[in-house]
Amino acid sequence: MELKAIRGFNDILPTETGQWRVVEERAREVLEGFGFSEIRVPILEKTELFSRSIGEETDIVEKEMYTFQDRSGDLVTLRPEATASLARAYIEHKMYAHDPMAKLYSIGPMFRHERPQKGRYRQFHQVDVEVFGVSHPMVDAEVMAILMHYLSVLGVKGCELQITSLGCPTCRVPYKEDLKAFLRDHRSQLCPDCRRRMEINPLRVFDCKVQGCQEVMSEAPLIGNYLCQECDEHFAGVKAYLETLDVPYMINPRMVRGLDYYTKTAFEVVAEALGAQNAVAGGGRYDRLIEELGGPNIPGIGFSIGMERLLLILPEEPCPSGPSLFIAALGEVAQREAFSLSYRLNVAGVRAMMGFEGRSLKAQMRRANKFGARYVLIIGEDELREGKAILRDMEGRRQQEIPLPGVFEEVISRIEGSL
Ligand code: HAM
Repeated sequence: MELKAIRGFNDILPTETGQWRVVEERAREVLEGFGFSEIRVPILEKTELFSRSIGEETDIVEKEMYTFQDRSGDLVTLRPEATASLARAYIEHKMYAHDPMAKLYSIGPMFRHERPQKGRYRQFHQVDVEVFGVSHPMVDAEVMAILMHYLSVLGVKGCELQITSLGCPTCRVPYKEDLKAFLRDHRSQLCPDCRRRMEINPLRVFDCKVQGCQEVMSEAPLIGNYLCQECDEHFAGVKAYLETLDVPYMINPRMVRGLDYYTKTAFEVVAEALGAQNAVAGGGRYDRLIEELGGPNIPGIGFSIGMERLLLILPEEPCPSGPSLFIAALGEVAQREAFSLSYRLNVAGVRAMMGFEGRSLKAQMRRANKFGARYVLIIGEDELREGKAILRDMEGRRQQEIPLPGVFEEVISRIEGSL
């Protein structure tokens, strides 16, 4: 039997982990600068946590969760997203006890049994960001600004921030009734799935890809025209604060998020370059979630970035996790010299490596290239006899001679000076 990874579950190979780390490290820097702290929560939770928060009638809960009975007979689920877990942890550890405001982030794998394609996997990773305890529209604008800032720090281009307001239960009840009435009038034009969906979760019809349904929905009533005064004022505030921060946005009145916990602001960042799975990040406000999960009446807002999709649109950079220096040593004496030099350089903070087997210079240069080393220090038999080594800059293709006594200090100062 040939053993392979499960469909939709990917290995992240050594050639890729450098980029993953860049993305993760920048996320930590940006978020911690804005006062966020990291939290790590379990990957497995009670199924009820997700069915109650994400919503029984969503695609995620209906057909995408990895749910099973564990050996004690409890129904458990591999998390399909992180917001519910962070909310659970916030409540469980009474993080609101002294001050309800908490700014948290978490990075890790999520699991959804979707049909795999480019940008859509069954195990994927998110940077998840949540602010609990603040209902002011400034915080909505700030989290979106942080998301866009993070993307620009990474050099990602061609992204658009789309926003909407999904209202609150007060405005959503009359809206849903009108939407249902509209859908009943157009029932014959809808696909069988949407005919079923329209009574339980009519908003989902906006997400249907069938052309007939899309045509119907282009005429459908929009939540934006039903917002109650509070939601309307909140949305006006969010837009004004985004403008204060010079964050460009587009209003998408037909946006439907695939999770039911949202109230008021919802948003997505889309990148055309991604094709069909074009949302690189999504989020929104969920002012009732904490209470619905058994906590106090505390609002929240956040977003998650899909890391695989982010990596698909990341500008190419050389892998930063490679060594700065490769030592190519020819002959046994030179190898011994290289062996101790490479170790001492690493201890001193210079990323250095050697090839070990005394291969030809050509083979060692190929290896230096493979590992992405910027510099190669060549110690050949002739050089050794003459008491010198050659430092070659692989980018500029220049080389310099360095006297062997003091090579350690010299390499450190030259490499540090030029990186
Ligand atoms: P979501 O829109 O379901 O929201 O997912 C956020 C992002 O995760 C998506 O925009 C996408 O980039 C990525 N993603 C989702 N599913 C997949 C998949 N199967 N394969 C690859 N990437 C995927 C949430 O998860 C909410 N928890 C966001 C949030 C946080 N709302 C408030 N706080």
